[in-house]
Amino acid sequence: MREAPTLPNFVQLPVPAATSAVAEAAAGLLRPDAALSPKFFYDALGSRLFDAITELDEYYPTRTEAAIFAEHRQAMAQAVQAFWQHRHAAAPLSMVDLGAGSCVKAASLFDAFQPARYLAVDISADYLRGVVSALQQQHPQIEMTGVGLDFSTQLALPPELLSGPALLFYPGSSIGNFAPDQALNLLRQARELSADGGLLIGVDLAKSAAVLEPAYDDALGVTSAFNLNLLRHLNRLMGSDFDLRQWQHVALYNQAAGRIEMHLASRQRQCVRWPGAERWFEAGERIHTENSYKWRQDDFESLLRDAGFLRVQTWTDSRGWYAVVLALTA
Ligand code: AVI
Repeated sequence: MREAPTLPNFVQLPVPAATSAVAEAAAGLLRPDAALSPKFFYDALGSRLFDAITELDEYYPTRTEAAIFAEHRQAMAQAVQAFWQHRHAAAPLSMVDLGAGSCVKAASLFDAFQPARYLAVDISADYLRGVVSALQQQHPQIEMTGVGLDFSTQLALPPELLSGPALLFYPGSSIGNFAPDQALNLLRQARELSADGGLLIGVDLAKSAAVLEPAYDDALGVTSAFNLNLLRHLNRLMGSDFDLRQWQHVALYNQAAGRIEMHLASRQRQCVRWPGAERWFEAGERIHTENSYKWRQDDFESLLRDAGFLRVQTWTDSRGWYAVVLALTA
């Protein structure tokens, strides 16, 4: 039991050892079609570069999502409150923020949603410490917990952290960085974790390549730096000798697969070495670094139903570029 209700709890759940990240990166580089997980973007500099991306004129998802919340958050809160009253006898609302980061998106919903509990989940509990402590001071009536968890492979929380129904909050269209089968798997786990609660999720919608490609290949070159920084991160993580000047950022819309792809293309024939192994790359050969799937609204709603959610309500912007979806379990 806590002693002071205005002090948040912090819990770090087990993270994979650094050696397994190195082994994963090495295996990805040695594949005939070299590919790396987008999680390698996010060292300290990569996270700052991503924040800079969200301010670019070309990168519309962040500001479009913010506009949808600004316009519709009362309606979203009313839908959740009506469901909670009907399904859970107005039990206190627990809100679980997946990939919470700076927690600003969730915090902007506190007035409308009035959660009794807030669990901020991000890869590092240490990172959450400052942010959640400051937030707790502003909202002493909410019981707050910061949880360090990499939920990209498995989304589950121990019962001492969360018991009973919850509203999961997953904004930012990060669901698009999962292939459809992995997205379904994650949404099924979200359904399970919500314990007959719900999920409020942001998703980027399909649109023309003329809008999508500049969003991932901006004129200032910030996305290029974000992509190349992955190699800098690997050099420190695994002791590789990538020469960043010999690699070029590539972003293209794969219409058939419905996704933006990011790659790094080798500018010349070259060898990359790291302790215990090496890999030759031909000129023009690519390393695949990210997919960002763009969903059709009805396909995404079907995916949520396949994951076990029964009632789905969607809000979009006037251009139909982005959707915020509330998925409930009854
Ligand atoms: C984090 N994720 C939703 C971003 C996206 O749009 O897929 C990552 C990103 N990659 C390049 N720009 C932004």
